[in-house]
Amino acid sequence: MSALRVLAVVGARPNFVKIAPLMRAMARKPALEPLLVHTGQHYDGPMSEQFFDDLEIPRPAVNLGVGSGSHAVQTAEVMCRLEPVLEHLRPDLVLVVGDVNSTLAAALTAVKIGIEVAHVEAGLRSFDRTMPEEINRVVTDAVSRLLFVTEKSGLTNLLNEGADPRRIHVVGNVMIDALEASRPRWTASPIFRRLGLDTRRPYAVVTLHRPSNVDDPASLAALLDALEKLAAHLPIVFPVHPRVRAALGRRGEGGVRYLDPMGYLDFVALMSRARLVLTDSGGIQEETTILGVPCLTLRDSTERPVTVTHGTNRVIGADPGKIVHEALTSLEHPAAPPAPPPLWDGRAAERIVEVLADGR
Ligand code: UD1
Repeated sequence: MSALRVLAVVGARPNFVKIAPLMRAMARKPALEPLLVHTGQHYDGPMSEQFFDDLEIPRPAVNLGVGSGSHAVQTAEVMCRLEPVLEHLRPDLVLVVGDVNSTLAAALTAVKIGIEVAHVEAGLRSFDRTMPEEINRVVTDAVSRLLFVTEKSGLTNLLNEGADPRRIHVVGNVMIDALEASRPRWTASPIFRRLGLDTRRPYAVVTLHRPSNVDDPASLAALLDALEKLAAHLPIVFPVHPRVRAALGRRGEGGVRYLDPMGYLDFVALMSRARLVLTDSGGIQEETTILGVPCLTLRDSTERPVTVTHGTNRVIGADPGKIVHEALTSLEHPAAPPAPPPLWDGRAAERIVEVLADGR
């Protein structure tokens, strides 16, 4: 029997983390023939190439070079440029991960020319349709034949939306596979020395990039003011997403250390020894849960509720006064040790490739 040709499509930073263990697991499986396409949604060295190096991801066969743009432009560019590649390569299956514009665009392109789609990290729902990622999740799941789920809420959501249970596989979390597989390397990261950060003393790590937090200058300024207040209590390091960089202006004297975007290994190392993480990212809620580091999520909702029920995450919104108050409370009262969510054991990719190989 010939191998199943699986074409994986990635575009943005969190996609790279998720695809790393999948590419490795597929390469080990003779029944599968993996191929990788990069859409080019993220293109700066620290946002893209550094992740390929850190996570030892094979170089993509094709880079579509779509770059930045409005949602319509970016999504449409991926579709226009991916379609001829799919027509030419005619894979048996297109594999997409996560919820970025590249995920949605690749899924739509494939299904419309009769190529089946598998979605890894299916079923997550924030129930907030003002988030671009929520639209991407709902539509991608609706057109995918195989739905790989990280947590029980994903299964419930998909069943509630009428998905065929035979399409759904609860497999665990490939982001945690990546974290565990690279543990020896991030443990050895020189980032603390490079930053002159004393790990014997508590420090906090911040990331912000959600449009709802950073696109409106007044909201962003209020958030940064809150962080600067908190910086009076402990050092704060903040690797800044390019989306936010321009809006920072002359900030930098208020006690928060604003840094360039960081590679995967350095960033995980930095989180692993932090006393507190404040973020609006999705993946970081999951990583802090496994690292056992308290996480305050500066959003009104999470599509990853298991990080609250089992992990270290608290969803506190973006009110500046509340952020300072909750952060100080968290510093005074260490959280109970987390219980890892079911199947977040570093073996999700293996389970996924078993299912893919079975469907050959
Ligand atoms: C995207 C995802 C988001 C994910 C995030 C991770 C969508 C809708 N959003 O958001 O879900 O959490 O990636 O980082 O897909 N830019 C650069 N260099 C780059 C990439 C981006 O300078 O390499 C700047 C550009 O000004 C660009 C802006 O960042 O317009 C936003 O990039 P984009 O990929 O559109 O969205 P993200 O905010 O990165």
